Amino acid sequence: MKVTNSHQFKQPTCTMAERRSSITNNFLSAFILTITFWTNIQSSMEHGLTTDYSGRYLVAIPNNIPAHRTVLDLSHNNISELQISDFRSLSKLQTLLLSYNLIRVLNLSVFQYNKDLQHLDVSHNNLQTLSCYPISSLRHLDLSYNNYAAMLLCTKFGKMLNLEYLGLSIRRMQKSDFSVLAHLQLDTLFLGLEDLSEYSSGNLPVFNAKSLQIALPQNTDLHVLLDLELSATKRLQLSKIQEKHINDLRTFLSNLNKHSTLRNLTLNNMQCNWDGFIDILQSVWESTTEYFVISNVPPLEVPNTMHFNQTATSIKALAIKQIPFTTFLSAPTNMYEMFANMNIAALTISDAGLIHMLCPSKFSNFTYLCFSNNSLTDTVFKKCNNLTLLETLILQSNQFKDLTEVSLMTTLMNSLKYLDMSKNLLWYNGNKCEWGENVVKLNLSSNVLSESVFRCLPVNIQMLDLQDNQISSVPMEIIELNYLEELNLASNKLTALPGCGHFRGLKLLNIENNSVLSQSSEFFQSCQNINILKGGHNPFMCSCELRRFINLEKQGSIELIGWPDFYVCEYPHHLKGTLLRDFHVSELVCNVKLLITVVLIITVVFLLAVSFVCIYFDIPWYLKTMWHWSQAKHRIWKSKPEDMLDSIQFHAFISYSEHDSDWVKNVLIPNLEKEDTSIRICQHERNFIAGKSIVENIIDCIEKSYKSIFVLSPNFVQSDWCHYELYFAHHKLFSGNADSLILILLEPIPSYVIPSRYHKLKALMAKRTYLEWPKEKSKHGLFWANLRAAIQIELPLSDEINEL
Ligand SMILES: *[C@@H]1O[C@H](CO)[C@@H](O)[C@H](O)[C@H]1NC(C)=O
Repeated sequence: MKVTNSHQFKQPTCTMAERRSSITNNFLSAFILTITFWTNIQSSMEHGLTTDYSGRYLVAIPNNIPAHRTVLDLSHNNISELQISDFRSLSKLQTLLLSYNLIRVLNLSVFQYNKDLQHLDVSHNNLQTLSCYPISSLRHLDLSYNNYAAMLLCTKFGKMLNLEYLGLSIRRMQKSDFSVLAHLQLDTLFLGLEDLSEYSSGNLPVFNAKSLQIALPQNTDLHVLLDLELSATKRLQLSKIQEKHINDLRTFLSNLNKHSTLRNLTLNNMQCNWDGFIDILQSVWESTTEYFVISNVPPLEVPNTMHFNQTATSIKALAIKQIPFTTFLSAPTNMYEMFANMNIAALTISDAGLIHMLCPSKFSNFTYLCFSNNSLTDTVFKKCNNLTLLETLILQSNQFKDLTEVSLMTTLMNSLKYLDMSKNLLWYNGNKCEWGENVVKLNLSSNVLSESVFRCLPVNIQMLDLQDNQISSVPMEIIELNYLEELNLASNKLTALPGCGHFRGLKLLNIENNSVLSQSSEFFQSCQNINILKGGHNPFMCSCELRRFINLEKQGSIELIGWPDFYVCEYPHHLKGTLLRDFHVSELVCNVKLLITVVLIITVVFLLAVSFVCIYFDIPWYLKTMWHWSQAKHRIWKSKPEDMLDSIQFHAFISYSEHDSDWVKNVLIPNLEKEDTSIRICQHERNFIAGKSIVENIIDCIEKSYKSIFVLSPNFVQSDWCHYELYFAHHKLFSGNADSLILILLEPIPSYVIPSRYHKLKALMAKRTYLEWPKEKSKHGLFWANLRAAIQIELPLSDEINEL
């Protein structure tokens, strides 16, 4: 968060100050510690062009390092020697971290083939000698915390003109040791003087690095501070300050004259009591320093009375960090008053255990206030009308609870633009809220707010951070937030993409880490101005509903941050782990109307085709005939000859009308007998026994036949004889062999043609399936096969037949 105030300077925000405090005397070891910490979690890291070998008990440089690596971390090992062959192949090497090893001798010429080497850290080793080989590409060289007694630098180092950072620690110091530094235009010079054992005053040169960091000698008899002279230095950071240094420090500060270039002073890790602290503060107050950070001091007991002189000061920003103020008083009102009434633009007091802060008693110049990581409560700045210039108020990580009270706190802060209330215990109880009219950025992240928070917001809000709360939806009834451009709802409990009905100007929406399963149509209707959406890390339900969301990326109107890696299907189960990008579902499956239409069309076309085929090829007839044929075959297979009556001598008896005799004699009989000569037909003309009556002959014929075939036609129906025959056959049907009747419909018989007295025939025709004589020649083959199969049976060869 960068804030520019009316004086047009960049103030050290809490975050900046934090960062600065971490850049302590040896920034790099902190850096390496961070890396090592990370390494412990994840022992092997191969990230991009970085190779991490830190903390692996290596005694030599591994020889299998990929040649194109640019960053090589070998810190925290047991390496004692470096060879030219170790680095020769690493022509792209830019950063080499070798801190916390056991290197004794360093010949910088081992890097002669690493033309891109910019950053070399050999701090915290055992270095005793350093050979003089200038690496002209080098920008950052850390030689601090080694074992050398005197300065290692030789004049050739003056040729490393690109050098921006140089870290050294020194035990014995001579002015001439620093002569090489005069040639270098360093940005930052770090001097670790903790172990300085020999120093005669006047041996310190005039430093011209823009930023000077000194860890002070722990031998407090060595008064280097008194000799410290700065020429172009703008930023001075002193660390490891002993109580005994304080006088020297005050002297140094009071010696800074009006023409001093020093603007930023950081005192880190200081041993002192309250009086020492106030003394230093007063000295800095009266010096030319503009930005003062003091951090890392043991707990200070706040006395009853203050002796701090609020004279005019050059200080613009004061940051007091990690200095716990303790007190026996119920409230150290004096201290609150001292801070509250400071006539400066920016004040930070963080990690100080503050439980309260007072409203300035008169018009205040504060434009920036940061009291993060304290224990402030809802009672702070109530009805405070002297903070009218305040633009930024950071109250992160405190004990605020009531959002309404917070809103009322801002009512009189007419200039307040940014309020950071993150990491508190805020919730909204439904009471009327009243915000400062100019609040445009509000950070309410990491509280316990529910969706009701949307009823307690500044109307002119532009940026709203609500991440890490308990919000499950954006409610319908909220005030219009016409200016809202950025809304962060990450890490809440949303189950669907919210709509933007009340903030149609929204450009950036963050809903990462929620429980968003699907999109809402509302989102697409009302969130048209969004151009950046962070929607990853949600348990997406990969179904039709999500298609529109997935298409967002293709359309390109919205930039999906983290696409495609962070957008993964969670449901349904079989798609779990699939990237949304790779989830495809067709329009057809998702559009019910379209699906029904297509299915209907396909069905209709299919039915039409089937009907056509049926009609054209008369499929039902074939099917029916095949069915009969197979039934007959089945019967033959099942029936055993023993079951057959001995009397059966013929396969079939044929009954027909005289009018159809042509067809019977020329077509039916020849065809039945054609292929199987064993087939015997009883024909009353052919097989009649003289002396018996016609009826007797017919009955005889029927009884001796396995089947009775009736050729039906209108003619048949007219003939009484035929009907008799049918009657007998039918009679047999009931008395014995059940399926002995075969009806062939030679010509269709309209039912009205059948005389009503032939109800038996009618009933038979209605009940029994009959074989129809097909008109088409192509079907005749099947017809005959079927008929033959129906009468097929093994008959015993009886002598009687011959007699017949
Ligand atoms: C709000 O505060 C949180 C936590 O303090 C921080 O991480 C976040 O970046 C802040 N949001 C903005 C927009 O500054």
